[in-house]
Amino acid sequence: MAMGGSISIKASAKINIGLRIGQRASDGYHPIQSVFQSISLDDEIILEWSDVSSKKSGEKDLIIEGDFDCPPEKTTLYKAARIFMSHCGLSANIRLKARKIIPAKAGLGGGSADAAAVLALFNAAFNAGVDDHTLSDLALRLGSDVPFFIHGGTALVSGRGERLKKLPPLREVGILLVCPTFSVSTPWAYAKLDQFRQVLSDNGKNAAVPGEVAEAEGSKTAALLSSPLETWPFKNDFSPMLYKEFPEYAALEKAFRALGAGFVSISGSGSSMYGLFESRAEAEEAHARIVAGAGGTKNEKALYGMALHAIKPLETSLRLG
Ligand code: C5P
Repeated sequence: MAMGGSISIKASAKINIGLRIGQRASDGYHPIQSVFQSISLDDEIILEWSDVSSKKSGEKDLIIEGDFDCPPEKTTLYKAARIFMSHCGLSANIRLKARKIIPAKAGLGGGSADAAAVLALFNAAFNAGVDDHTLSDLALRLGSDVPFFIHGGTALVSGRGERLKKLPPLREVGILLVCPTFSVSTPWAYAKLDQFRQVLSDNGKNAAVPGEVAEAEGSKTAALLSSPLETWPFKNDFSPMLYKEFPEYAALEKAFRALGAGFVSISGSGSSMYGLFESRAEAEEAHARIVAGAGGTKNEKALYGMALHAIKPLETSLRLG
C-alpha cells in the first residue's frame, strides 16, 4: 500500500422525478417511492493521504477543506471518512478538499453525493476491498439517500431511501434547474408535511407507500419514463406544502411552462425546481431566454437572482479522476 498519495472523484447531484411519501413510521422516517436521476452538476472531492497504518496508532489528522454551510466536522465528508476508517481499522493523515458546486439544502443530494464519494475514494485509495453490500450499509448510516449515490444513474427508490431498483438510463432530456435564493432543510420539510397533512386530516394515510416496490413497478415506471414528458404522471408529495410556504413556486412553474417545459417539478424536499425539455438544445434555449429576461411571462422577475443550469441526465453518480 502506498504510504502517501492523492486521488480525486466527481460526485453528481440528483433530481427526484416524482416523490410519494407515506406516513411517518415508528423509526421517525417516512416510507418513500421516487425515481432518483443523476444529473451533470458535480462536486469534486480530492483525497490526500500520508502515514497510513492498519492499526490505530494514536490520533492522526483528518482535515476537511471547502466552502460549507456548517463547521467541517459536521460535514458528510468528515462523517463518511470517520465511518470508513473505523470500519476498516485504518489510520492515516487525511486531507479531504471539496470543490462544492451542488447547492446545499436544494433537494439535489449534495451532502449525500459527497458522503458516497468519500466512501468510494477511501475504498479505491486504500485497496480496502469493501464490497458493494457493505458500502451500502455504511452509506445508509450516513443518510437515507446516500446508498443511491454509490451507483447513481436512474433508480426507483423505496424504503426510507435505501431500497434501489436500477432502471434503464433516461433518454437525453434537457434539464433546466433553478435554485431559488431560499433553501429548505429536509427534516423541516418532513415535519411541516406532517403538520400540513394533519390539518387536512390526511396524515399520509391516503398515500400508502409500500416499503419495497414490486418487480412490476420497476417496468411500469420505466415505461412511463420513456413516454413523452407531457404525459408523465409523477407527483412530488412535498409540493402542496411547499407551494403554500413559498409562493415563488407557482410563478416559477408558470415561467417554466411558458418556456415550453414538458415536465416541471420541485426536486426532493426543495428548494430547487426543474423543467424538463425533450432536448438539451431546448433547455439551453430556455436558459438563454430567461437570462435575457425574455421568459415570455409576467413572472420572469421570480427567476432573477437565482442560479440557473442547463444540464443532462447521467448514467452514474461517481467518477474517479
Ligand atoms: O436520513 P437523513 O439523515 O437524510 O434524514 C434526515 C431527516 O429527514 C430524518 O431525521 C427524518 O426526519 C427525515 N426523513 C424522513 N423520511 C425519510 C428520509 C428522511 O422523515 N425517508
